[in-house]
Amino acid sequence: MEASRNRAFFICVEGIDGSGKSTQIEYLREHFESRGLQVACFREPGGSQIGEAIRTLLKRDWHSTGVDLCPESEFLLFSASRAQFCREVLAPAMADNDLVICDRYYPSSLAYQGFGRNLDRQMIESITRFAIAEFEADCYVYLDLDFRAARERMLSTRSAAEDRFDWETEAFWTRVLSGYRAFFRTPELMKRTIWIDAAADALSVRREILLALDRRLDEAEDAGQSRLCDKE
Ligand code: TYD
Repeated sequence: MEASRNRAFFICVEGIDGSGKSTQIEYLREHFESRGLQVACFREPGGSQIGEAIRTLLKRDWHSTGVDLCPESEFLLFSASRAQFCREVLAPAMADNDLVICDRYYPSSLAYQGFGRNLDRQMIESITRFAIAEFEADCYVYLDLDFRAARERMLSTRSAAEDRFDWETEAFWTRVLSGYRAFFRTPELMKRTIWIDAAADALSVRREILLALDRRLDEAEDAGQSRLCDKE
């Protein structure tokens, strides 16, 4: 999507489960709202009523029922949720807000379904283009964390029943992580990515993200790419 001054700046936060996305998104919301900006936050899968219904389906503990979603269905359900989210929720939110922050977006599908599940990546890319239409993030905040450290965090904050780390193999997490790293290192994405070592404590991570993000937002203002400048 071509940047213009009459739309929000779109930030997407990515990282494996347990990397601290939700905590950091709450910090971002507080920070930017306290600066008087209108901020809308969403999560994937979900974001729309239909997307939340798909989320429930995706997050159901199929393992205990003895059946499982096949990787293809899983990817298509994530994509269906995303297509609905983009058209029903993201489009108006981009027009009505200064900042839109999304907890996960299509890079999650590349990492989890493309690398984690080994689905054909060209197919993932073309269905993703179909699903997201023109909505590309202006900036990605990628929270990089080794899966063992992420797992420790999850175990200390969530019940074991909710813990996806119990369901998937170590090889799966290794592939997801390498998928994220490869994706955010591509030259096209690097320019738009704030890569954070998420092993530090939450407040240090917050400081690092805000420093980098404030710089990005200043650049966007200078280039007339966001309407944040209208707030000054
Ligand atoms: P969630 O509880 O929202 O996890 P988190 O707080 O870490 O985002 O569950 C979302 C799960 O779905 C998470 O394990 C990542 C996974 N996922 C995919 O596999 N593909 C996708 O395209 C998306 C958006 C999420």
